[in-house]
Amino acid sequence: MDTEKKQIALSLIQPSGTITLGNYLGAIRNWVKMQDEFDCIFALADLHTITVRQEPAKMRKNIIDAYASILACGIDVEKTLFFIQSHVHTHAEMAWILNCYTQFGELSRMTQFKDKSAKHADNINAGLFTYPSLMAADILLYQADRVPVGADQMQHLELARDIANRFNGLYPNVFKVPEAYIPKTGARVMSLQDPTKKMSKSDENVNGCVHLLDPPEVIMKKFKRAVTDSEACVRYGEGKDGINNLMDIYGAVTGLSHEQIERDFDGKGYGDFKTAVGEAVVEALRPVKSEYEKLIADKAYLESCYRKADEIALKISSRTLAKAKKKIGFI
Ligand code: TRP
Repeated sequence: MDTEKKQIALSLIQPSGTITLGNYLGAIRNWVKMQDEFDCIFALADLHTITVRQEPAKMRKNIIDAYASILACGIDVEKTLFFIQSHVHTHAEMAWILNCYTQFGELSRMTQFKDKSAKHADNINAGLFTYPSLMAADILLYQADRVPVGADQMQHLELARDIANRFNGLYPNVFKVPEAYIPKTGARVMSLQDPTKKMSKSDENVNGCVHLLDPPEVIMKKFKRAVTDSEACVRYGEGKDGINNLMDIYGAVTGLSHEQIERDFDGKGYGDFKTAVGEAVVEALRPVKSEYEKLIADKAYLESCYRKADEIALKISSRTLAKAKKKIGFI
């Protein structure tokens, strides 16, 4: 019998472009799997996206597309809270409070800040700098137990834990100190053109990144052009970043182990393997794409989903915010 209270798992994703195969295999597919084991809270981190300049019309489209895409991946609004960060004002308010409990030195050490300020040297805004306090607010407002994040966000999660501990040290029992959640099956998908880098929608080479909604022929083309090596042997190993990445992707969508893949492609060339990976990805994404088409055609339904979730998120987060404000001394 399922009477035990489930742990709360929480994560957000930035709707800063289309959802990529990397987002899907690395994060969203795990969110989908977590829905039975945890009380899940997911959201679009649209407030985070404006730390980098956005074009308004594009931003609107990205947000609704991301919402529909993630539902299409299998997020079930009946059991999971899936809302939009900017619709829930407690996040920005809590972020301000947490800013006052976060040190300049801590924020200065964040590698993402260093990377992003190098990349956007003309717009090193304060939001880019305090980004981790907003992320801490997202997490701490919901008393989350577990936070599924990729390696690139681990430093931010550590900081959120430090902020929570510091705050609790001053005012006991306000925040649950969250822990990372590293899923058993989470592929780190690399660029198809530079497999030493994470697959990213901002890849200079469009062939490096597969988008969830790419047409099948585009997906096939990108896989056929994927960078490999000159050994011509489908085997997982050092110095074979391209093939390792393709094997990881193939394994993630088919469930096959590296050994099984090596056996299946013994004596076959990279051409055959790339075609097989492309076809497997096309098949895996087919139902997602058709569900997305259905959802995106029904904006009223999408709106009803996020409005409902926004409201519940506001209710839950308001409790923590009120408690924090009271303990600090606001009247
Ligand atoms: N910063 C995360 C990213 O870019 C997104 C994010 C925002 C997040 N708030 C969060 C992730 C809270 C986990 C928990 O990937």
